[in-house]
Amino acid sequence: MTDLQCNTVDATRDKVLLVDDDQNLLESLVRLLRPEHEVFTARNGDEALGVLVACGPFTVVVSDLKMPGMDGIELLSRISRTSPDTVRVLLTGHADLQAAIDATNLGYVYRFLTKPCPPEVLRLEIAAACRHAALLRDQRELLSLKRCKVLLEGVVLGFSALVEARDSYLAGHQQRVTRLALAIGQKLDMTEAELETLRIAGLLHDIGKVYVPADFLSRPGLLRQEELSVVQMHPEVGYEILKHLDQDWPVAVIIRQHHERMDGSGYPQGLSGRFIVQSARILAVADVVDAMCSHRPYRQSLGLASALEEIEKNKGRLYDERVVDVCLDLFRNQGYSLAEQPENT
Ligand SMILES: [Fe+2]
Repeated sequence: MTDLQCNTVDATRDKVLLVDDDQNLLESLVRLLRPEHEVFTARNGDEALGVLVACGPFTVVVSDLKMPGMDGIELLSRISRTSPDTVRVLLTGHADLQAAIDATNLGYVYRFLTKPCPPEVLRLEIAAACRHAALLRDQRELLSLKRCKVLLEGVVLGFSALVEARDSYLAGHQQRVTRLALAIGQKLDMTEAELETLRIAGLLHDIGKVYVPADFLSRPGLLRQEELSVVQMHPEVGYEILKHLDQDWPVAVIIRQHHERMDGSGYPQGLSGRFIVQSARILAVADVVDAMCSHRPYRQSLGLASALEEIEKNKGRLYDERVVDVCLDLFRNQGYSLAEQPENT
């Protein structure tokens, strides 16, 4: 089948498969290319397909056109279906130029070279094919990342809407909190990555409320202590739901801590000061401001002035001092307003 039996010397190098029924030519090409690539050989189309299955994937396949049995175009057209990322190069005589052009136009062949091809030209062409393959891989990865991002955005917005659908008083809350939290984060010079994490955490910060009976969320009047305990489990439940996300992406931790307070009086862990991550301290302030400005089943909106008074009064005790200062500055000096602000605030 192949004289190398898939013994890859260096997995970081590109694998090149040479297919030709001329054994002497194959040997000279192997000597030429082996310093730069992992080189495999096959003497006909069937053997090449076997090598592809056993030793693939290959970065480049170079095939002679005229071979006994399956010809080079048939071989490369099959490879284009089974291994579309493999760059396919055809070696052809002058008499078969039209067939090579047709195969190129059909997408079976990336490039064709006419025989006799000087070794140095072939070496440069294979190097160019490897670069082309790397470019294709990068483009594919980028596309895949973009698709993941779109998918993630849809999932995040879907879950965000799911929580809010169970509690009419929460409508738009997570979006408004996110917007305010991001405005604060930007003023605090957070990095793009930190802001993106904060954005996702903001949109999902109350996801744990899916665990809370809808009746608790919409009932007018204050909850009994045991009911309040259930409601107060939502940061922990949110953490449990999202804790399997990438550790470098601490969305779950931020959500778990968004009801913690600087003096340790918050929940669920009673963390204080620097043990609360910065994004959670920001969410806490944005959450309180928006919650106080919103109607609740047990009270009307308390208004923006009261909300700002609340964070100012408890600056440094319950809420992070710098976060409060930035938030107050946004509202009082920068003209910031909450989206969908209630009329009576
Ligand atoms: Fe919450």
